[in-house]
Amino acid sequence: MKRLAVLTSGGDSPGMNPAIRSVTRSALSFGVEVVGVYNGYQGLIDEEFTPLDSLIVSGKNRYSGTFLQTSRCPEFTTEEGQKKGIANLRKHGIEGLIVIGGDGSLTGARAIHRHGYPVVGMPGTIDNDIYGTEMGIGVDTALNTIITLVDMIKATAASHRRCFVVEVMGRSSGYLALMTSISTGSQVAVIPEYRVNMDRIVENLHHRTRNKHNNSVIIVAEGVCSGGEFMERLRGAGKIEQEVRLTVLGHVQRGGIPTHFDRLLGARMGEMAVQALVHGETGVMVGQVAGKMQLRNLEEILGRKKELPADAIRVARNLGIEFGDPVEM
Ligand code: ADP
Ligand code: F6P
Repeated sequence: MKRLAVLTSGGDSPGMNPAIRSVTRSALSFGVEVVGVYNGYQGLIDEEFTPLDSLIVSGKNRYSGTFLQTSRCPEFTTEEGQKKGIANLRKHGIEGLIVIGGDGSLTGARAIHRHGYPVVGMPGTIDNDIYGTEMGIGVDTALNTIITLVDMIKATAASHRRCFVVEVMGRSSGYLALMTSISTGSQVAVIPEYRVNMDRIVENLHHRTRNKHNNSVIIVAEGVCSGGEFMERLRGAGKIEQEVRLTVLGHVQRGGIPTHFDRLLGARMGEMAVQALVHGETGVMVGQVAGKMQLRNLEEILGRKKELPADAIRVARNLGIEFGDPVEM
């Protein structure tokens, strides 16, 4: 292989820059040229290509986001769009592609593979909803950003003896909400994998006020409903003694400075993605399994629901966090 390309697609995630840096430097160390595709799959269609070298990726580790930029590109979900993108890669003498992105982006990568073009994926999403890897690039940073912000909310909540509803991201996964409810000491996690039990939530809050706890935090995953909707339901469910306020954390969760974990994960996954592509692998994603980097077949992992870690569920239960009853998937 003489030349490969790399792109970032879908929602950005902290650690995408370290991942691009690793892909670039690893490819160069294999004697392979690297081309960056701007703007995700849209850039593939529009031929927005730029050569990458060691200097260009220098110093990028500490920045969040993706310097190659990203997009949501409806045209790439069509056969025509995919064929156009692949033709553009071939036109530029590019023999393989590395895609860094979430579930949708990896589905795009699988489509490229099905067209017979070599492609390797890397999971880049804060949601941690991709089956086949314990962690996605960006998850750790998002978790750290959320706990910093919830700690701040708890300080003011305690001063005013308030109950805060905090909405966190997670399009269809309660991972961020459940994990941060454990690490921030929040009382309730509202997550899509479990059915809310309003009576128990109200009782949990009453129990806290009876026991002289002066604040409460309820973390709501956006995949269930908006924090605002939840607050209204809570108010309608029974008298809450504490004043209830709402904070929607929003996109700050995606913009944190990449943590050591995410920089390292981006570096490890990037290096393995290049190795795989250079050695003729295609239609695979680099995943972290039992802490180690492993290639996972895209055909096998896409469309499968990633479960929340069973030990985290147990820990949350035993800590007294209220998160409802399992939903049959
Ligand atoms: P994420 O990768 O973060 O999950 P999206 O779901 O928005 O974000 O997907 C990113 C992009 O991946 C889409 O805009 C589209 O270009 C591409 N994509 C998503 N689904 C498919 C599909 N079924 N086939 C081909 N490309 C897809
Ligand atoms: O998939 C990552 C994610 O941040 C989700 O948690 C969230 O629902 C979505 O992207 C938001 O997307 P956008 O930036 O397009 O609003």
